[in-house]
Amino acid sequence: MSNPAVHYDVIDGIAVIAIDNPPVNALGHAVRHGLIAALDRAEADSAVKAIVLGCKGRTFSAGADITEFGKPPRDPGLHEVIERFDNSTKPIVAALFGTTLGGGLELSLGCHFRVATADAKMGLPEVKLGLLPGAGGTQRLPRLIGPEKAVAAIVSGKMIGAKAAHADGLIDAIVADPIPGAIDFAKTMLADGRKLVRVRDRSEKITAAKADPSSFDKAASEATKRLAGVEAPAACVQSVRNAFTLPFEDGLAAERGMFMKLVMGDQSRAQRHVFFAEREAQKIPGMLPEVKAAKISRAVVIGGGTMGGGIAMNFANAGIPVTIIETDEQALTRGLDRVRQTYDVSVKRGALPEGATETRMALFSGTTDWARIAEADIVIEAVFEDMDLKKRIFAKLDAHARQGALLATNTSTLDVDAIAQSTKRPADVLGMHFFSPANVMKLLEIVRGKATSHQAIATAIGIGKTMGKVPVVVGNCDGFVGNRMLARRTTECERLMLEGALPQQIDAVVTRFGFPMGPFAMGDLAGLDVGWRIRKHRGVTAPISDALCEQGRFGQKTGRGYYIYENGSRTPAPDPEVETLIVETAARLGIMRRQIDDDEILERMTYPMINEAARILEEGIAIRPSDIDVVWVYGYGWPVWRGGPCFHADLVGLSKIAERLDHYAKATGDAGLAPSALLRQLAGESKGFADFGKAAKVAAE
Ligand code: 3HC
Ligand code: NAI
Repeated sequence: MSNPAVHYDVIDGIAVIAIDNPPVNALGHAVRHGLIAALDRAEADSAVKAIVLGCKGRTFSAGADITEFGKPPRDPGLHEVIERFDNSTKPIVAALFGTTLGGGLELSLGCHFRVATADAKMGLPEVKLGLLPGAGGTQRLPRLIGPEKAVAAIVSGKMIGAKAAHADGLIDAIVADPIPGAIDFAKTMLADGRKLVRVRDRSEKITAAKADPSSFDKAASEATKRLAGVEAPAACVQSVRNAFTLPFEDGLAAERGMFMKLVMGDQSRAQRHVFFAEREAQKIPGMLPEVKAAKISRAVVIGGGTMGGGIAMNFANAGIPVTIIETDEQALTRGLDRVRQTYDVSVKRGALPEGATETRMALFSGTTDWARIAEADIVIEAVFEDMDLKKRIFAKLDAHARQGALLATNTSTLDVDAIAQSTKRPADVLGMHFFSPANVMKLLEIVRGKATSHQAIATAIGIGKTMGKVPVVVGNCDGFVGNRMLARRTTECERLMLEGALPQQIDAVVTRFGFPMGPFAMGDLAGLDVGWRIRKHRGVTAPISDALCEQGRFGQKTGRGYYIYENGSRTPAPDPEVETLIVETAARLGIMRRQIDDDEILERMTYPMINEAARILEEGIAIRPSDIDVVWVYGYGWPVWRGGPCFHADLVGLSKIAERLDHYAKATGDAGLAPSALLRQLAGESKGFADFGKAAKVAAE
């Protein structure tokens, strides 16, 4: 018997079964098949007294093979493999290391003991794929760590470190080396005559929850706060509850039923799409495999304001020393103080350990001396949004930076090519567009100029990942991908108010769709003066928003914007004065306001953006539709379970969207709302963005 995905060995009477399926030992068909064959062998060999289950490579299994979901199932299923392991009469010890996730952890829960290295992490992240753990995780984990802790772990999908896992009873020992450690554990267990105990038979924590489910109820409602409309978390709660209300077999069957339903549903499909889209976004057509990210050991950030401070924190958080360059000592002190305060708040909230402010601040230095640029492997500019200033700064960077250093601008609206041209090394220049707050927001648009080299892009992607960001490479145009699409939505917001809707109605539609915030509450939070300044600069108007700004209503920071915020409240409250202003402005412009229903609002909040996405693809500004989805999920709060604008558009159907856009173009007189050539073409061919993406992939290969 030979199965390259699963190795079998016997060492001192202990059978060692090792999964070998790079890169993450996913439990695909060949692995499942190999596991059963190896177990058969171990059971049949009377010389084998115990079994160790381990993995080769960089990690214990990261779970089921996600690429198999949605395809016809192939026997043996994972639940069957786990059942076989569970029922083995020879004790099985799982040897965990790296990240043991999903089905990987469930497989280990089907073993009788678990040991792990000290740096191992484990979790059931299925919820992030719109699923619940479907191979016994919701029934076995509560039996080990208790239903309260299990529901928190399963609904959040968060990983648990080995130390906490040991304290909670999820693992039995911490070992230095996974397989040798597990072998030693098995030998000791045999020598001590210790009996194997199946996780399914552990009843202590289940009985306690059954007697008094109140702490489970509390943990469940805490875990599902703010998750309305999402199917998977509710299913996770139900299934964990089954662990103490139903017999084990019934709980398992119910879990499987819920898993099958979710895996076929649109929400899970959307979340799996985003999982793969995020990884695909890092693949750049035409980039040779030998082009690797350069090592970044020191960084310089020019400008220590709102963005510069946050960007610098990303470096320090990744353990990379960073220098902020400012115009004068005062600005420098202000910038560094703000960073320190941000760290202090995180420590206070428990998001960072005690003492973290000092360790992180030790990586910061500040200066007004431009010669310090020579130390840097990367320089990120984050000064005022002013082309002449940025050009001057890049000329200075060119003079001081070492050859090969990456030179990046954080501009949100300016032409990256024009900035690059002020250096003699435009191949090393690109945009790194962080989102505010830069130390928190995951999206990083990497703006590629005409001359930007693959090397520079690879380094920007690499450092982005090191910072924990989700990098997406985009082309150079006004607004890049995210803000360019957002501008379409902003235009519709203004129009809808004039035509008859109110901010609270529009925000309610958008949040019901799944965004964490509506556009008006968001505007108030970010500050309405920012957009006002840009409009004035560009010579465009937005009658209602301009009027609000003229009254000094800049949003939360002035206590008034589209909403009113009384006594320092951060909760938007509708303001009758705003309604009056909207009604009067519409009357002044001769617009008859009408009742606008929620369906129309939702269409106008999404379809014009989808149309812009099609233009962005036509122009090659985004490499593929799924990149646009990643931008919107990670940068703008598009609900992940709706997969992003392009995925959602395919679900709605492009022909319907094209037809409605034609209607709105006619109704508003805005030709820009008419379907773009690509949208019209795809709709005409009954195709979707996914077809466009596939064709683009084939062409690139
Ligand atoms: N199935 C299939 N492919 C997977 C996979 C999985 N479970 N996990 C990762 N991969 C692939 C990725 O798509 C990527 O492929 P690519 O190189 O072609 O783009 C490759 O493995 C490497 O992955 P990453 O780039 O993400 O590698 P990292 O080292 O950054 O991260 C990881 C490793 C933490 C394991 C991360 O990949 C991860 O979170 N994976 C998903 C884990 C997960 O969700 N498991 C649950 C699966 S569902 C399940 O088990 C159902 C069960 O309950 C029945
Ligand atoms: P800011 O006004 O908070 O900070 C700018 C900083 O640059 C100030 O501290 C200033 O002293 C410093 N500075 C100005 N000239 C300098 C010079 N010659 N040398 C060194 N430092 C200098 O501005 P903010 O919001 O941080 O924006 C910076 C850049 O980031 C802009 O290009 C902006 O468009 C972009 N951006 C802003 C976002 C936001 O939400 N604020 C989001 C994404 C990008």
